[in-house]
Amino acid sequence: MDYKQLVANVVAEAVDNQVSSSDVYPKVETPKTAQNGDLAFPTFMLAKTMHQNPKEIAETIVANIDSEAFAKVQAVGPYVNFFLNQGQVSSQVLETILTEKDHYGDNHDGDNGVVTIDMSSPNIAKPMSMGHLRSTVIGNSIAKILTKNGYRPIKDNHLGDWGTQFGKLITAYLKWGNEEDVKRDPIHYLVKYYVEFHQRDEADPALDEEAREWFKKLEDGDPEAVKLWKWFRDVSLKAFNQTYQKLGVDFDTYNGESFYNDKLQDVVDTLKADGLLEKSQGASVVDLSDQDLNPALILKSDGASLYVTRDIATAIYRDQTYHPVMNLYVVGSEQTYYFKQLKAVLQKMGLQSAAGLHHVPFGLITVNGKKLSTRHGNIVLLNEVLDESVKMAHQQIKEKNPTLANQDHVAEEVGVGAVIFGDLKNARIDSIDFNIQEQLKFEGETGPYVQYAHARAESVLAKASEQDYQNGNHQLEDPEAWEIIKLLQSFPDVVKKANAEFEPSVIAKYSLRLAKAFNKYYAHTKILTADEQIKARLALVKSVSIILKESLRLLGVKAPDEM
Ligand code: ARG
Repeated sequence: MDYKQLVANVVAEAVDNQVSSSDVYPKVETPKTAQNGDLAFPTFMLAKTMHQNPKEIAETIVANIDSEAFAKVQAVGPYVNFFLNQGQVSSQVLETILTEKDHYGDNHDGDNGVVTIDMSSPNIAKPMSMGHLRSTVIGNSIAKILTKNGYRPIKDNHLGDWGTQFGKLITAYLKWGNEEDVKRDPIHYLVKYYVEFHQRDEADPALDEEAREWFKKLEDGDPEAVKLWKWFRDVSLKAFNQTYQKLGVDFDTYNGESFYNDKLQDVVDTLKADGLLEKSQGASVVDLSDQDLNPALILKSDGASLYVTRDIATAIYRDQTYHPVMNLYVVGSEQTYYFKQLKAVLQKMGLQSAAGLHHVPFGLITVNGKKLSTRHGNIVLLNEVLDESVKMAHQQIKEKNPTLANQDHVAEEVGVGAVIFGDLKNARIDSIDFNIQEQLKFEGETGPYVQYAHARAESVLAKASEQDYQNGNHQLEDPEAWEIIKLLQSFPDVVKKANAEFEPSVIAKYSLRLAKAFNKYYAHTKILTADEQIKARLALVKSVSIILKESLRLLGVKAPDEM
């Protein structure tokens, strides 16, 4: 039930449709304090049409309203304040959730449209850093949110498995690498070579020349170069998959940059045929000055392709393969300008899905105040952060709940959940500083706090049985319960908002508010006391448990029943 719509309808009716309910709807507000009601309509927009001052209009509306849906309607100055009928609303909301369960809030807005999500996309032979954590968990959550809104997401891991860094890596490996080492601990040694290359090339520019030659050989299919590249790619992918498994994230495809190698000539030919390719100092570029953007560099003067060349091929491939209604790129905000150029080129080429291309940017992540960069060796391995977090969660559980069964499993869900939630509770675009200790606290704005509220609800329900709340009177009329009911009632809107903004933090912040309201209720209410309200209270607890779990699921976080 959309109560905002109800308010819009009664207001339009009360003024004899001098304004339409669809015009009223966006003006309906949620008052800051409970004493001003649950919804309010400011009458200013009607002053001109009705030739009355807003205060008089508010009084007119109140006099003309005759709706049993509201407990009370009051004129206060220029406002009409609406008080919902709490008993009626609570039984309606709780019964809907008990029936629909985790499907509460599902909608069909997406009309089954396919949305490709370019996400995670780490670079081969470099460790997946905390920076890639953001793309992975934000993309994963957006995919779940899109599904709940009726879309069909395709999660595409656009691995950075091609590019000049392979020339550097091959050069470094052949000069000072060792096969045994790479076999024993691939990522560690490959990164070591890469870092070492960058330390040495400042003093020895010939190294860069050699790296360029190796990359050219790779592009030309030289067997030794290809063999090494394949090997580096295989061992890196294996390591990435361990991390994805820990995070509980999977992908529909891993078509990395190299997948598009045989499609690049087509891109160049098409751009030429469309008259879009220009020579500039030996290189080939697409001029974007009509959009106030720098030219996009498609081919270097030596004929080598670039990141954008592969991205154009990728976009064309996705367009033809999936016919997506949207094309999301979950990539850090440092690439914002780049994606403007990419979209501009694709639009010039007339690619159908170019209009639905959205760069979904996110801010930098620092760990304990330190920036992350592979080049300079200051790396925090995501794997290590996850393991550390699980270990600390285990420690906490041992202290707080020593008799808990399944401690390893729960520690896994809490430790990993804390890392994911610690990222997703922030607006994407904000830069965040990550501190495991903070994110693991059971109090405060953390994943474990929400998980704990859910486990608490489950522990209450474990003392009752389903017949105790499934049917019966679900009318609740106390202020702390009302807080919760209003939150539950708003969940479908929250799901839509998160989708429209590609913003998992909308869900995370909601789950924190719901957990907090529930904890307050739990502290002040004797839920299991056998009186005529017990069914309603238990239905409330059950509904909270369902929606907390569903909110966490949309974030990619597990909700253990006990912790
Ligand atoms: N591999 C790149 C990086 O880590 C991100 C790739 C993003 N996706 C894309 N289609 N350009 O910086």
